[in-house]
Amino acid sequence: MDDVTRLERLRAEAPERIAAASTIEELEAVEAETIGRRSPVAELRRSLGGRPPEERRELGRRLNDLVAELSEIIERRRDLLERRALEAALAADAVDVTLPGRIPRRGTSHLIQQVMDEVVDIFVALGYTVATGPEAETEFYNFTALNIPETHPARLTSDTFYLDYGDVPEEILLRTHTSPMQARYMEAHAPPVYIVVPGRVFRRDSDATHTPAFHQIEGLAVDEDITFADLKGTLAHFVREFLGPDTETKFIPHYFPFTEPSAEVHAYANGRWLELLGCGMVDPEVFRHVGYDPQRLTGFAFGVGIERLAMVRHGIDDIRALYDPDLRILEQYR
Ligand code: DAH
Repeated sequence: MDDVTRLERLRAEAPERIAAASTIEELEAVEAETIGRRSPVAELRRSLGGRPPEERRELGRRLNDLVAELSEIIERRRDLLERRALEAALAADAVDVTLPGRIPRRGTSHLIQQVMDEVVDIFVALGYTVATGPEAETEFYNFTALNIPETHPARLTSDTFYLDYGDVPEEILLRTHTSPMQARYMEAHAPPVYIVVPGRVFRRDSDATHTPAFHQIEGLAVDEDITFADLKGTLAHFVREFLGPDTETKFIPHYFPFTEPSAEVHAYANGRWLELLGCGMVDPEVFRHVGYDPQRLTGFAFGVGIERLAMVRHGIDDIRALYDPDLRILEQYR
């Protein structure tokens, strides 16, 4: 087959092969085989130098024409394939804006947190401020400053978690109530004092109504002429705000080492009388421990268990329901 025939055959066959390339990669392969550096065309071009001038001119012209013709067909095919590839990529990326969205699960505060916030809000509305203190406490603030005697059963290791920390044994403990903040706050601030102290407390207790960690809110009001009537009015107001405007309360005499006189507040809820909190007039002994003048100042204090309030409010009879991680339980109290 002479050279001219080879070129004519290529001119006849190549367009079909180019049209058959369905990807850019296939097209580039066809391009290399037809007009690339190792193609028969390139081979012929390299042989031109050794040919007589007449033949060189004739064959050179044919080669140039063929390469120009095929290059143009290849470029058109390349344009088309590139456009198709782009369209396919866009189609694959497309967002269907008509699909329904994925709705995220909405979270809420835990019931304990909700009740704590609510109690704090009731007192903040009366002008109280919020204070918080350490969960690891010294036995001084947890007991001694609160006039709790060395022999008091609450100090026993059977009731209190002591931490192996510091130089003196049984000096550092997990606070058993929020009351230590009474002493800490009064030490650091001049009167008058109107505070509430929400926080976590710890006792070696575990049954249907006790968990080893639970929550309390302490209240403390100290000023020049606070009376037991202020205590009763304030706590009755709190109970009405928390359990409803018609809720009855009664104050039953009780004993706490850090208040004198002391009382328990009971409220009528869910068809019976329930103990809600402990309270009393701040014992002058506590004032002396923190450097307040018991001749000039009086005050009242109270401590309320948050879990207990949540259980009374929602008629829950096992405290462990509050700590069950099953969302079906907690979701009932949104
Ligand atoms: N700290 C007491 C307790 O945990 C509760 C309490 C009672 C706090 C009387 C007070 C109070 O401030 O005056 O049982």
